[in-house]
Amino acid sequence: MTDVTAVILAAGEGKRMKSNRPKVLHEICGRPLLGHVLAALENLCTDKIVVIGHGAAEVKAAFGRSVRYALQEEQLGTGHAVMQAVPQLSGRGEVIVLCGDTPLLSSETLAGLLKEHRQTAAAATVLTACVPNPFGYGKIIRSVSGALEKIVEEKDASDQEKTVAEINTGTYIFAAEALLNVLKRLNNKNAQGEYYLTDCIALLIDEGLRVSSFCLEDYRHALGINDRSQLAEAASLLRQQINQRLLVSGVTMVDPATTYVDIDVRVGPDTTLYPNTILRGLVEVGTGCIIGPNTEIADSTIGDYVTVRHSVLSGCLLADNVTVGPFAQLRPETVLRQGVKVGNFVEIKKSDIGNNSKIPHLSYVGDAQVGSLANLGAGTIVVNYDGQKKHCTVIGDQAFVGCNSNLVAPVTIGKGAFVAAGSTITKDVPPGALSLARAKQVNKAGMAARFIENGKSDDF
Ligand code: UD1
Ligand code: CA
Repeated sequence: MTDVTAVILAAGEGKRMKSNRPKVLHEICGRPLLGHVLAALENLCTDKIVVIGHGAAEVKAAFGRSVRYALQEEQLGTGHAVMQAVPQLSGRGEVIVLCGDTPLLSSETLAGLLKEHRQTAAAATVLTACVPNPFGYGKIIRSVSGALEKIVEEKDASDQEKTVAEINTGTYIFAAEALLNVLKRLNNKNAQGEYYLTDCIALLIDEGLRVSSFCLEDYRHALGINDRSQLAEAASLLRQQINQRLLVSGVTMVDPATTYVDIDVRVGPDTTLYPNTILRGLVEVGTGCIIGPNTEIADSTIGDYVTVRHSVLSGCLLADNVTVGPFAQLRPETVLRQGVKVGNFVEIKKSDIGNNSKIPHLSYVGDAQVGSLANLGAGTIVVNYDGQKKHCTVIGDQAFVGCNSNLVAPVTIGKGAFVAAGSTITKDVPPGALSLARAKQVNKAGMAARFIENGKSDDF
């Protein structure tokens, strides 16, 4: 395999984002812009060098050792940015140069560009696109015969050149040797006083070398992000692609326009996603599930035939045939095993709920280990926090906790035990025991009238 090194330009400030965060770390569909670019390069190149400058430390922290870095201390132009990577280039094989802010470039496009480059034995190949509004882009200038001559930046272009619809996407493949030679000859004598990478093209042609081009079918794939409006536009386009992929794979989406699925999410066939469903981060949903409407699931694994309606889940694991909601919140480290039923207005945190257990209404369960076939009645509260520390609660298989009970942790409810409604349990309940921990009821005949003005209690 020939060496294919990618040089990704990401040193610019991204002023128009008006952000404290480096531009390439802004996310669409759950992945930073730079992450999308790196993913598209994944099976194409042997090595990736990211040129960093503004926010260098943050970019490095985000991508760690998955790539190499070249520091561009001062942003003197795209050509200057590539020069910073030169010490790390071998001079053999090919170099793909692209920007860190073009998240929609696909691996298919890059593979097509590389194929064109090799088939035409070019010294460089430029990815171009025909756009409805070429303002701001470098223009592809061709001779009458159609041969590529040069790239002219907007600010350096003549009135006639400004009208050219074919633009430079900022993505190129170079023969490494040719690139290293021509970079030495770049100067900054232009309207912006920058070292333009685009000038390499005319310089190579001057030397009699071949420069090819490859035109994108869908110009939107080259969309570069400069501001938040383009960020939203790119997110919307990518979302459509993700939803399309899911629809083709057998997922039903009642309204794709209001279904928000991140790029690393997997959904099994015959699952239905209802409107306003948001699947964020690393989510895996099995087959035959019903998710939504109005449901947000982040970083969770959901089994088969699970229903989650009007609920919020984060960092959870749900086995098959589980039912959640409406209006439940499942917080990190919640595990619901097969057939568990969690109903309305239930919050669960860091708890493991055994097979076929039920928590149907109005409960808080935190730091608890619940066995199988247990039933926590309406209003059961696990009192896990004493104001200083969190404590654990254990509830055995087939235990029955009556409505409106408080289980003050640390406490264990034994297997098959029965807690009477309204109890505040502070001591362990042995297996099979009935536990009553509430004040005894006293009835006083006829005394209600004392407390009821214009009392009608005579009638009773
Ligand atoms: C560049 C191209 C232009 C093309 C456009 C596509 C040049 C001279 N022009 O223009 O032909 O149509 O991209 O979007 O190359 N960067 C650095 N260091 C620098 C300058 C830029 O790392 O010193 C990075 C930026 O972070 C960005 C990329 O290079 O990711 C492109 O820079 P930008 O300033 O946006 O170039 P354009 O003027 O848009
Ligand atoms: Ca740009």
